[in-house]
Amino acid sequence: MHINSTIISGQHALSDMGYLLADKGRAVLVTDKNIVGIPEVAGLIAQIRRGVGSLVLVDNVPPEPSQHDVAAILRGLDAAPADIIIGIGGGSVMDVAKLLSLLCAGDLTVTLDSLLAGEKPRQKTTSLLIPTTAGTGSEATPNAILAIPEQETKVGIITPLMIPDFVALLPELTTSMPARIAASTGIDALCHLIECFTATCANPVSDNVALQGMSKLFANLEIAVGQPGNMLARLNMLWASYYGGAAIAHAGTHLVHAMSYPLGGKYHIPHGVANAILLAPCMRFIRPAAVEKFALVYDLLPNADLTLAASAKSHALVEYLDELVKRLDLPIKLADLRIAPDDIPYLAQSAISVQRLIKNVPMPVSQEDIYAIYHAIR
Ligand SMILES: NC(=O)c1ccc[n+]([C@@H]2O[C@H](COP(=O)([O-])OP(=O)(O)OC[C@H]3O[C@@H](n4cnc5c(N)ncnc54)[C@H](O)[C@@H]3O)[C@@H](O)[C@H]2O)c1
Ligand SMILES: [Zn+2]
Repeated sequence: MHINSTIISGQHALSDMGYLLADKGRAVLVTDKNIVGIPEVAGLIAQIRRGVGSLVLVDNVPPEPSQHDVAAILRGLDAAPADIIIGIGGGSVMDVAKLLSLLCAGDLTVTLDSLLAGEKPRQKTTSLLIPTTAGTGSEATPNAILAIPEQETKVGIITPLMIPDFVALLPELTTSMPARIAASTGIDALCHLIECFTATCANPVSDNVALQGMSKLFANLEIAVGQPGNMLARLNMLWASYYGGAAIAHAGTHLVHAMSYPLGGKYHIPHGVANAILLAPCMRFIRPAAVEKFALVYDLLPNADLTLAASAKSHALVEYLDELVKRLDLPIKLADLRIAPDDIPYLAQSAISVQRLIKNVPMPVSQEDIYAIYHAIR
């Protein structure tokens, strides 16, 4: 995977956007109703409006969008191709912006249905992604994730063409995140990093970015959640999230994400919250296959006891993850999400069918194993 985005980072790093927008006639800017009301975002949109020929504002992306949400957004746009697609928001907004970068590129043979059927597009519009959560790392991945209500799950549309041309990591846009969203999206970033680090497809490139990302994440997540205005912690979390996305691009997630898809697809549990209840239980399950790697991750923790043996470190890491989710006040049981034990057979069947991710689990995993993991957190 070749990531060739230009990254602009730091507080107010987009105060001069002239060079980005100079030759852009028609811009489509994708965001959502909450984000459009953030003063810093409103300022950015005004600046973009002044810099381009015309601006089409799409500000109705719902959280965890479905294929029908994207189809409705497309019906609201005219067929004229865009010169630049800009996404300002969390993963939901960025994924829709990434899809529009394919669907507004002027190739009318490429449709949402053809992308869902696996067609590989050849054209894209220039894109700029600006995350407001930290996060999904969608700004670094070739993936766009859509809920498919009819199948009560989510699917990923994947093409390297969706890796954006420009990424801006602006910490001031993330300070308005409610603590619960900062916590759950931060845990999503951690899941990306630790799943990619332990994945079957892990390789030296993904290992490097995963370790770098986890070192930033462990040092900054709780500070960012507890001190919303701490710009350095916010910026470091944006980088941790970006590294999580880059690790996905090079390796891919596995068990937590496979098991969280049906929680999002059927019960509409926010992605980071669904991952939070699964993080420690899934890591406990794969620990025997990941002792050495878990020991390396443990060494990054604040106050790590570097004298412990690898096996003890691997156990201590799982306990740390368990405690971290509790300290962040995120749900830890399916019952907290109002999911009844009767639904566990369905959940297990749905999760095992996400073979794209199950293949990346670093040890054999059966439907019965997945059932047991859900059952332990009922
Ligand atoms: N493409 C990928 O590689 C990838 C990776 C992981 C997750 N995802 C997808 O991303 C989506 C989840 O994205 P998310 O976790 O970033 O959440 P989100 O984009 O759904 O946002 C969650 C809520 O937070 C609000 N919000 C976002 N930023 C805010 C801010 N700065 N201040 C105040 N409110 C803010 C939003 O308006 C929304 O109501 C899911 O659909 C998930 O499947 C994609
Ligand atoms: Zn995720």
